[in-house]
Amino acid sequence: MPRLVRHEATAPIKIEPQDKPVFICACGLSQELPFCDGAHKGCKAEDPKKLYVYDKKRKRIVEERED
Ligand code: FES
Repeated sequence: MPRLVRHEATAPIKIEPQDKPVFICACGLSQELPFCDGAHKGCKAEDPKKLYVYDKKRKRIVEERED
């Protein structure tokens, strides 16, 4: 069943429980969930007043509408 989930974050959540920090994806676009893979860089051009619907692979915007 398809699902539209609202993600408002445009950057990862940094966790530092280990020697090296771990970045958890907060934008929902990573191909390596739950970890950030840098895909959030595509969010920078998004208008915070709009709702973006991505394709199943979370790579391409298929719909853009006023929120
Ligand atoms: S926060 Fe989602 S890919 Fe980085």
